[in-house]
Amino acid sequence: MKVAFQQRQDFGEDPLACRETSHYQREYIEGFVNKWDELIDWESRARSEGRFFIDMLREHGVRRVLDVAAGTGFHSVRLIEAGFEVVSADGSPEMLAKAFANGRAHGHILRTVHVDWRWLTRDIHDHYDAIICLGNSFTHLFAEHDRRKALAEFYATLRHDGLLVLDQRNYDAILDVGYSSRHTYYYCGTHVSVRPEYVDTGLARFRYAFPDDSVYHLNMFPLRKGYTRRLLEEVGFQRVDTYGDFQETYREAQPDFFIHVAHKRYREAET
Ligand SMILES: C[S@@+](CC[C@H](N)C(=O)[O-])C[C@H]1O[C@@H](n2cnc3c(N)ncnc32)[C@H](O)[C@@H]1O
Repeated sequence: MKVAFQQRQDFGEDPLACRETSHYQREYIEGFVNKWDELIDWESRARSEGRFFIDMLREHGVRRVLDVAAGTGFHSVRLIEAGFEVVSADGSPEMLAKAFANGRAHGHILRTVHVDWRWLTRDIHDHYDAIICLGNSFTHLFAEHDRRKALAEFYATLRHDGLLVLDQRNYDAILDVGYSSRHTYYYCGTHVSVRPEYVDTGLARFRYAFPDDSVYHLNMFPLRKGYTRRLLEEVGFQRVDTYGDFQETYREAQPDFFIHVAHKRYREAET
């Protein structure tokens, strides 16, 4: 079956008013998805993040991983190659098609599931040792009830002592200090210009300009670090460790990205 993919991003008459959770599906159009790997630059990203995720998952005895924001498949492929059993999920069919093609190019058949996080358990019935939601993906949820619902679905899909690894841009720094990125860790492509075009407490609209003069945008919700940590705790994760650009210690405004590692394992309350 041939799928007719949308040709242009459509943010409506007033792009700054476009603050809807489901809109991500219309942002990851084929043209942008085909450029995504230029933006992330697989080799540089693999070099910069090193073994952080692989070692952390191994240390926690993880075998089965659900990559809920598979995108073009970068982490799914890396983790398969490191020996993990991976299922790759995403709400964008364009992204999943690209992930599958990238998997094939690396000699793997990705197990893909097209699903939105808000109703993950409708389509995913297994339980996983870990869920990863990486590359500043959770930011696509605009309504607080969608964030709570998605986290509750992740929690339910984890084994009793599973791990959720979820990252985000350092929006505190963007909101309070201004944007600066060293392109060091995540979106490593050096020929792509990435910057927020507009920011307020309810919207971060990022502009991505490529060497062929094509320009795309993403509208995202600027998650403050403390807020994300609180939501994780409120859905039931008893312990949340937050790293800044893969380091345990950092100055708050310094990192480009925060990585939250949320533990589901039940801990007796200390008396
Ligand atoms: C910024 S991309 C990151 C992709 C990849 N993890 C990476 O690091 O390159 C965000 C991904 O999250 C997916 N996504 C956003 N909101 C979603 C939702 N509600 N349900 C499922 N997938 C969603 C998008 O389709 C997209 O592939």
